[in-house]
Amino acid sequence: MQDAIVDALRPCLGGLIVDGTAGHGGHTQALLEAGAERVLAIDLDPDAVRWLSIRFQDESRVQPLHASYSDLSQAIGAERAAGVLLDLGVSSRQLETPARGFSFRLEGPLDMRFDSTAGAPAGQLVNRLPEADLAALIREYGEERRSRAIARRIVASRPIETTTELARVVARAFPGRRRRHPATRTFQAFRIATNDELQVLREGLAGTRLALRADGRLAVIAFHSLEDRIVKQTFRRWAQEGLGEVLTRRPLRPNRSETQRNPRARSARLRVFVAFRSN
Ligand SMILES: C[S@@+](CC[C@H](N)C(=O)[O-])C[C@H]1O[C@@H](n2cnc3c(N)ncnc32)[C@H](O)[C@@H]1O
Repeated sequence: MQDAIVDALRPCLGGLIVDGTAGHGGHTQALLEAGAERVLAIDLDPDAVRWLSIRFQDESRVQPLHASYSDLSQAIGAERAAGVLLDLGVSSRQLETPARGFSFRLEGPLDMRFDSTAGAPAGQLVNRLPEADLAALIREYGEERRSRAIARRIVASRPIETTTELARVVARAFPGRRRRHPATRTFQAFRIATNDELQVLREGLAGTRLALRADGRLAVIAFHSLEDRIVKQTFRRWAQEGLGEVLTRRPLRPNRSETQRNPRARSARLRVFVAFRSN
């Protein structure tokens, strides 16, 4: 996937590239190796930005920034970006840090915020939402068919303090064994709601297009169908409005060796849009 991302942004290497979800900086590094002249490496997670500042301390081409990609226009002011990359979702470092509360396998608080300095942690939704709202949240953001049974068990088990406790409560709503952990979709739902991810994505895509120069490219990697649908429909609408062209008729997917190395990459889908003119 990294090769596909670099290929998608290759025509942009001479201008400003924004890695809007820079995380550990893996894609930023790949873009530098391909010859990028300047990368603005944004992340909403202050820990990730600290890490980026250390990783790229001797690299004058990289500027780390704590911000949301949805505030890109403010971050770059009057300048226009040649390329923007959004690699959505949670990073492996976040997932593997128990204190962040993203993983149902590791005991931790019910936090799940990308920016742990702002907003309310997931525990507030888990422990305060009325049962019907919980069921709607789990159904809508988790695309979970057993949402009502899960919501009922959550309400009966409150207060729920930790990730593994929530995972056990959710699992009780699933008789029998399954291929995926039964809490996968419910955790996705609480994470999306905690960070308002779909609304941020809608606003972020709109703002990003305005921040592109003529021939500027926007590459987005989505990890679940809710995100991918928003990206696909937005790109299609922009193309219909004559604002640019979708370069990926079908989304690009990781190949088999990549998914063997990193099973979490299985559901990744890359779509690329090129703007005809700047705004
Ligand atoms: C899948 S990881 C990116 C990994 C990265 N491409 C790398 O190579 O290490 C997604 C990152 O997006 C960040 N993120 C989530 N929402 C964001 C937002 N609204 N603005 C900026 N960063 C965000 C998360 O904190 C996380 O670090």
